[in-house]
Amino acid sequence: MPRRIAVLPGDGIGPEVMEASLEVLKKALGPAASDFQFDDALVGGAAIDATGSPLPPETLKLCEQSDAILFGSVGGPKWEHLPPVQQPERGALLPLRKHFNLFANLRPVKLYSGLIHSSPLKEERIKAGVDLLIIRELTGDVYFGQPKGREGQGENEKAFDTMVYHRYEIERIAKVAFDSADLRKGHVTSIDKANVLTSMVLWREVVTEFAKGYKPAHKSEIKLEHMYVDNGAMQLILNPTRFDVVLCGNMFGDILSDEASVLGGSLGMLPSASLSTQGSFGLYEPSGGTAPDIAGKGIANPIAQILSAALMLRYSFGMDDVAKRIEKAVDRAIEKGARTGDIAGPGDAVIGTKEMAAAINEGL
Ligand code: NAD
Ligand code: IPM
Ligand code: MN
Repeated sequence: MPRRIAVLPGDGIGPEVMEASLEVLKKALGPAASDFQFDDALVGGAAIDATGSPLPPETLKLCEQSDAILFGSVGGPKWEHLPPVQQPERGALLPLRKHFNLFANLRPVKLYSGLIHSSPLKEERIKAGVDLLIIRELTGDVYFGQPKGREGQGENEKAFDTMVYHRYEIERIAKVAFDSADLRKGHVTSIDKANVLTSMVLWREVVTEFAKGYKPAHKSEIKLEHMYVDNGAMQLILNPTRFDVVLCGNMFGDILSDEASVLGGSLGMLPSASLSTQGSFGLYEPSGGTAPDIAGKGIANPIAQILSAALMLRYSFGMDDVAKRIEKAVDRAIEKGARTGDIAGPGDAVIGTKEMAAAINEGL
């Protein structure tokens, strides 16, 4: 039985970076590539254009029959006139996350040493090495809380979303964060807004209780600190090397991960893995979006998509060795000076998406 990967490129730069990542993935797998079956499916705006639905039943069925989803990005100005729930983001990506109970989103931010000089941050702030893991809760919070809606008219018209967290949702994402810290530097920073939001008071309480009962398997202890999100946003820029695992709810994790991506050079470098605790199924996608400003030009950075494919090998297929080879090849390409526009410093020669994939392939 082949291992099945549902390939959902989506919109904007999605198809461009997906093509690049499949090239690297197949080369890295070598002869083992024939153990895998890659099935393409429509999602997002591309699916709306072809079928009228952002998540056609065939696509969902294919995902259900697969062992992992390799996802590009969805959305863009072309579909923004549609009713919000029919748009690619709320009509396809969020339902996929919910359907497969993918509550744990891992976003590893790493500064490759070759990029220290092209970082917008001063060298002294990052030279100790930026290596942090954002653990973002992905199926709760104000994204999914009910009620959600609009009502009334005129000046009294109102719209509302509900920020809600259940104890079990906080406990299970805290466990992912503590287990991750146990394999890293043993430090969790939990981000909240417990000084204002009642759901975040519960968040802080549950994380604190969880920490008290947690027995690490490797470290002697896991250090826990709490930080308000506004301060956390600042500390990430001021003192990024102090962080190890950053545990956040859905919305704060969304915002802080785009911010933190800059510490690693660019949003175009930040992969993600969305996991549940049932089995090894996962959805793997860049943390950034469809980048309409550069789509169709062949200049997007494919590294976030390539590193997402590496995370897929690690978490869904237990192929840590091949995942590491891909990560090392990315490192090598950067060391040798391969730069798409988003990670180029002054005077650097800039290459396109395909050339970046080729440069990475050379180092495999
Ligand atoms: P975006 O992440 O698409 O782009 C933000 C900025 O980062 C842009 O300047 C873009 O050019 C740059 N960027 C992002 N990825 C890059 C890459 N690989 N290489 C080089 N530069 C890159 O965010 P946005 O502009 O706010 O959103 C555009 C669309 O994407 C929206 O419809 C949004 O909803 C959607 N989106 C989708 C996902 C997803 O599918 N997972 C994630 C985020 C945003
Ligand atoms: C992300 C994206 C999505 C999110 C959008 C497109 C729904 O920004 O994956 O970070 O907010 O989760
Ligand atoms: Mn986001």
